[in-house]
Amino acid sequence: MASKAQNIYDDSAFFSAYGTLPRSQHGLTAAPEWPELRQMVIDKLPLSDSAPSLEGHRILDLGCGYGWFARWARDSGAAYVKAVDISHKMICQAKQFETDINDSRSHLGSSSVENLTFEIRDIESITLSDHRERGSYNLVYSSLTFHYVEDLARLYREIHSALEQGGRLVFSVEHPIYSAPIRPGPSWKTLQEGDQDRKIWPLNCYSDEGWRVTSWLGVDGIRKYHRTVETYVNLLLESGFTLTGFKDWAPSTEDVAKHPEWTDERHRPYFLLISATKY
Ligand SMILES: C[S@@+](CC[C@H](N)C(=O)[O-])C[C@H]1O[C@@H](n2cnc3c(N)ncnc32)[C@H](O)[C@@H]1O
Repeated sequence: MASKAQNIYDDSAFFSAYGTLPRSQHGLTAAPEWPELRQMVIDKLPLSDSAPSLEGHRILDLGCGYGWFARWARDSGAAYVKAVDISHKMICQAKQFETDINDSRSHLGSSSVENLTFEIRDIESITLSDHRERGSYNLVYSSLTFHYVEDLARLYREIHSALEQGGRLVFSVEHPIYSAPIRPGPSWKTLQEGDQDRKIWPLNCYSDEGWRVTSWLGVDGIRKYHRTVETYVNLLLESGFTLTGFKDWAPSTEDVAKHPEWTDERHRPYFLLISATKY
């Protein structure tokens, strides 16, 4: 079956604009939700010298982008990391970062590390249940990618097959309250109350699951699939996972003190973070 997935990250204008975002340029430390997501990843893992050890972990990163997480996991001791993305440009950039790192490591006399691979794959139609990958990972990770996928039930089933017993899925998506509004949103509205202006998030159509076509980074026609929080969770349970972590992410008051420009982001959650285990 031909995939219906959109590959907007291979659009040259979009790819260049995406490259200017802080999280593209500086990686995980510039992603404000990373501390909570990282906590879900390292939950119950042994800490060696106060750093988490992913020793022995076989990890699959779905929609890896530039590969920031995949490199962090490798550098945190993972035995093996496979990172996949639909975008040729993203995978080329991720491989280029690896080449640059290996060049500087060999310059410093340390050996290159070969337990990280990048592949072009479409997770809308990916098969992880065949004999090559069935039960072969103990952590599947995905950051800000599942909201591009229409058939999430199928993807969860494939991930469930790819995990060994006790293996975990950790992922983030744009929060459904953020992704729900139909055009011309999402954008803030102002409500006047007496002499006060109050910022309002124009939430509508929350219960109408389906594609939303938005503009982002100066590019029109970006498709994201809106589904409710209930669907994200119920499909997981139906696929045989147990929910182990859940976070409606919005910046904390401490975050806002450091970044006053994020003040409005506390009015509604921005990301949904979930962890689940295959028992
Ligand atoms: C917002 S970026 C996130 C990248 C990375 N995970 C991160 O957090 O920095 C979304 C990524 O998902 C990828 N993507 C979107 N749809 C996909 C699909 N059907 N299959 C695989 N990757 C996909 C995009 O190419 C892009 O690299």
